[in-house]
Amino acid sequence: MALVELDPSLLSTLKDKVVVLTGGAIGIGRSAVEQFHANGAKVVFGDVIDEPAQELASTLGPSVRYMHCDTACYADQLALFATAEKEFGHVDIVVANAGVGQQGKDIYAPDQDINEEPSLKEIDVNLKGVLFTARIGQHYLRKVGGGDLVLLSSIAGFKEMGGLTPYMASKHGVIGLLRALRLTALPENIRINVICPWMTKTRLVAPVEGGWYKLGLPTNEPADVARAIIICATANRGTGGKTHEGAVLPFSGKILYIAGGKAYEIEDKLQELEPEWLGKENSEVLAKGQAYLQSDGTSWDSLK
Ligand SMILES: NC(=O)c1ccc[n+]([C@@H]2O[C@H](COP(=O)([O-])OP(=O)(O)OC[C@H]3O[C@@H](n4cnc5c(N)ncnc54)[C@H](O)[C@@H]3O)[C@@H](O)[C@H]2O)c1
Repeated sequence: MALVELDPSLLSTLKDKVVVLTGGAIGIGRSAVEQFHANGAKVVFGDVIDEPAQELASTLGPSVRYMHCDTACYADQLALFATAEKEFGHVDIVVANAGVGQQGKDIYAPDQDINEEPSLKEIDVNLKGVLFTARIGQHYLRKVGGGDLVLLSSIAGFKEMGGLTPYMASKHGVIGLLRALRLTALPENIRINVICPWMTKTRLVAPVEGGWYKLGLPTNEPADVARAIIICATANRGTGGKTHEGAVLPFSGKILYIAGGKAYEIEDKLQELEPEWLGKENSEVLAKGQAYLQSDGTSWDSLK
């Protein structure tokens, strides 16, 4: 684990960069839109709640555009990115932030009607939507020779917890997406990083807020998580190897855990300690298998 702290001198690298962000009307996404804008970036953001989104865009002015975009809808996302390119010429930074939680509806509880197909909205928005954003985002980042893709997962992406099953599966899926893409993306100069916020004061956590505060557990402001998004979007943009305090370059394939307002990188240590938790021999043999699967001559296409 490594504490990563924003170096404000890197904020100037955001000037005139074009950001596409999903779910920017309220909460963490809104704060990220504000921070990108405050540092000179142009932002095109989508959401499904038009009123606060339009209000934000009109407050911030013409360098921030809002477009209705349901992230679970591929055509909506295509249109969001196309708008960014049309309005501002290209895309440099992509943030897959939109997310939902259907708290209080445990579809795996014994009292559920098994004949009724459950809603899997969390999978549609938090996972399918993020898969779409990453796919379309990569396409646009390639056009400018690379850029930054930041994906929102959660502590629900790596810890266990009952009662939020589709949410947990969706957020674990985002970490799977990071690990699936990071090897092939980096040679294209596309840096993919994941944010895992712990309790952050937004409407998403309203049902459990009271008890949380009574216990005095750490919380994040939406601005703290937005700052971690900015850290990911700027870590590789310094000159002469300059980056944020505690960040290791290339800053790619990382997972930032956000708690008590601070950002900690947790993925490097997890990978480094594999021989301990998997066993030295298992780890060595696995590395050989992975090297074979990644090698140029290997294909998953049975016709090749
Ligand atoms: N608040 C926390 O404690 C916490 C913890 C871990 C992860 N997260 C993640 O952070 C991200 C932001 O959440 P938040 O806490 O700001 O919640 P929020 O509810 O305040 O904001 C979520 C935003 O996503 C938008 N959205 C929802 N469905 C959408 C869809 N289909 N298409 C487009 N936009 C959609 C909402 O309208 C809203 O603007 C989410 O991915 C969430 O899972 C939050």
